[in-house]
Order: sequence, then C-alpha cells, then structure tokens
Amino acid sequence: MLSATAVVFALISWVYGQTYSATYAPSDLPQTSEQGQSGTNQCGSTNNQTSSCQNVYLNSVDDFCFYAPPEPGANATIGDTERIEVSWCLKDGYGTRTIPPNTLSGAHFVQTPDYVQVTGVGNLTLVNIPAGDTGGELDPHGADGNGNPIGGLVFSSAFTGTLTQLHEWTNFMSDSEFCFRGCKDGPNAPALCQHIYDTLGCMWNIPGNYSAGVFERCDGDTNEPMGVYGTSTFFQGEPVTPSAHPAPPSSMCTTFTTVGAVALSTSASAGTTSLASSTATGSHSSGTSSVSATSGTQKSAAVPMYAPGVLLQVMALVAGGAAGVMVIA
Ligand SMILES: *[C@@H]1O[C@H](CO)[C@@H](O)[C@H](O)[C@H]1NC(C)=O
Ligand SMILES: *[C@@H]1O[C@H](CO)[C@@H](O)[C@H](O)[C@H]1NC(C)=O
Ligand SMILES: *[C@@H]1O[C@H](CO)[C@@H](O)[C@H](O)[C@H]1NC(C)=O
Ligand SMILES: *[C@@H]1O[C@H](CO)[C@@H](O)[C@H](O)[C@H]1NC(C)=O
Repeated sequence: MLSATAVVFALISWVYGQTYSATYAPSDLPQTSEQGQSGTNQCGSTNNQTSSCQNVYLNSVDDFCFYAPPEPGANATIGDTERIEVSWCLKDGYGTRTIPPNTLSGAHFVQTPDYVQVTGVGNLTLVNIPAGDTGGELDPHGADGNGNPIGGLVFSSAFTGTLTQLHEWTNFMSDSEFCFRGCKDGPNAPALCQHIYDTLGCMWNIPGNYSAGVFERCDGDTNEPMGVYGTSTFFQGEPVTPSAHPAPPSSMCTTFTTVGAVALSTSASAGTTSLASSTATGSHSSGTSSVSATSGTQKSAAVPMYAPGVLLQVMALVAGGAAGVMVIA
C-alpha cells in the first residue's frame, strides 16, 4: 500500500522528470522491495553479523554503510555477488551487519548541495570481499531493472535532517578501496550518480580523498557529472578514457581519530561544523582544505557488470521520460 508520503514523493519525482516505483521511509519498510530479493529491508534495530539487511545509510563519516558480500569465499567477488550484497554499517541500530573494527584505514565523507559521498581505503576482506578482487559497481539499475543488490535501499539524513530515501546512488567496492555516492533526489541526480561507467572504478567515478590515516567529514562543492565534459559525453569502451574530473574544493572539515567500533575522538579543524548540525549548505567559501583528485591511479574492475543492460536502461529512461509516465508500484 502506498502511504501519503510515498505519493507526494512520487509526484515530486515526476515533476523532476524521474520515475521511481516507490519511495520508502525507514520507519515503514516492507519485508522486501524488489522481486527476487535475497535479503530484506525490514531489519529491526539490532545489528548482527548474519543480518541480510539491504538498507544503507549515508549520514556522516562515523555513520555510513556500504554493500559487501553476505558470505566469504573465493567466489564472493563483487561481480559474482552483486545481486545479493548486504549492508555493512559503522553504527549499530539499523539491523545491518557491523563493519568490523580495523576494517577501514581511512574514510572521507563529503556533503555537497547535490550529493553525499564517502571515499576510502581499508582491508575489505574483513567484509567478505576476496583478496585480489579489483571490484565492481553497485547501483539501483541492474540489467533487469532491479538494483544491484536487488532491493537495496539507500537513505540519508544529510539533506533534510530526517532519513530520506536517495533513489540514485553508486557504490564501488574492491578488496582495498570503497566509495559510495548518494544523490539528493532531483533533476541532476541521475547524472551525478551515473552508473554506466562500471569498469572505471572509484577514483574515476567518485573523485575525492582516498588517503589512509584520516577520517574526516567535510562540506564540498558539487562536481561535474562523471563522464560529461562540457557538451561531450564519454561512454565506457571508447578508445580513449578521459581523465576524471578533479575533486572540487572542500571545507569545514571535521576529523576523527577513528570511526566504527572504536571510541571516537573528534577535533574540528575548521571550528564550526559539528556532526550534529551537518545540514546541506549552498556554497562553501571558507575553503580551509582543498581536495584534489588522486591522479593516474584509476582502477578498473575486472568484471564488467551488466554492460548489455546499459543501453536498455538508457532507452527505458528515455522512453519513460518522453511519455511522462509516473510508475507507482
Ligand atoms: C539478524 O538480523 C536479521 C535481520 O536481517 C534478523 O532477521 C535475524 O533474526 C538476526 N539474527 C539474530 C541472531 O539476531
Ligand atoms: C566458484 O565458481 C566456479 C565457476 O562458476 C564454480 O565452478 C565453483 O563450483 C564455485 N565454487 C564454489 C565454492 O562455489
Ligand atoms: C586483511 O585482514 C586479514 C585478516 O585479519 C589478514 O589476514 C590480511 O593480511 C589483511 N590484509 C591486508 C592487506 O592487510
Ligand atoms: C586528504 O585529506 C587529508 C586530511 O585532510 C589531507 O592531509 C590530504 O592532503 C588530502 N589529500 C589530498 C590528495 O587532497
């Protein structure tokens, strides 16, 4: 059944030109949200390490999740398990798995007017990714229209103060690197969370700071959409892959000595931003730190995900947009 909120959000999505089959609130989630889902969206509030919860929360550097395999094993590469990944979070309380202590060695959370993202490094074999897996891309647009993972839902409180679904998102995971961008619903969301560059890895798709040894939360400017260079759009597979866009400036950074299961100790490098008050801000002029893209180290995923589905997906989007169809499931 549709709640009034879902209808309102569906209308907003329609006005923006996107068609979403539903909008969920974390307080009112179904057991599953897509057909063929291996896990659940109804997760309770107590984490455990066999949880099959597939809800991700992107709130801050000490409160985010990503997708990783439910079981370890040589066959648990992201490419092999993309349809069944489960959610791993830093915080208890979401009914997901907990990212084990010492998994992450660096994480950088940036909030821009249009998206939130977290980029970093670690030993992600501790979340079941086999050593040697150069990784793959996860997003809500699998070849059959369901997500990778099927039924994955992403929420953030960054933009409204309350947990709101972000319909467009992209998450790259490998054995040693992760990045997750969740876009605020709106006309720019599909481009800023583009999912068609699935073999080009974190640093090309989600420019940012991937340094180890630092956990920080910053404000930032919105980057240009991945793959779009002025009026020209690059498509994966073309002979020359252009450079990633440089990461835009960030500011108001708050650093943490560590995150997750270990006690936090904070120090605000720019003074005024506290984690509790991290709401979206339109422009960032204080410029206390500037993040530049790590150059020349683009990582390619070994497994091209659902490339054949991309064209279908684009066609479906175009057709849906042209017809102005509002889909409500
Ligand atoms: C673990 O979490 C899942 C939610 O995905 C729940 O169904 C299951 O009962 C929990 N297991 C334990 C042992 O608490
Ligand atoms: C791993 O995948 C290969 C190829 O699909 C398959 O032959 C093998 O049985 C799988 N091994 C396990 C342990 O699932
Ligand atoms: C990752 O953690 C595992 C388990 O503790 C360990 O065996 C492995 O050496 C670690 N890998 C790296 C690259 O540190
Ligand atoms: C990443 O962030 C750290 C901590 O703020 C900073 O020292 C470092 O210079 C940044 N790296 C890049 C490439 O911007």
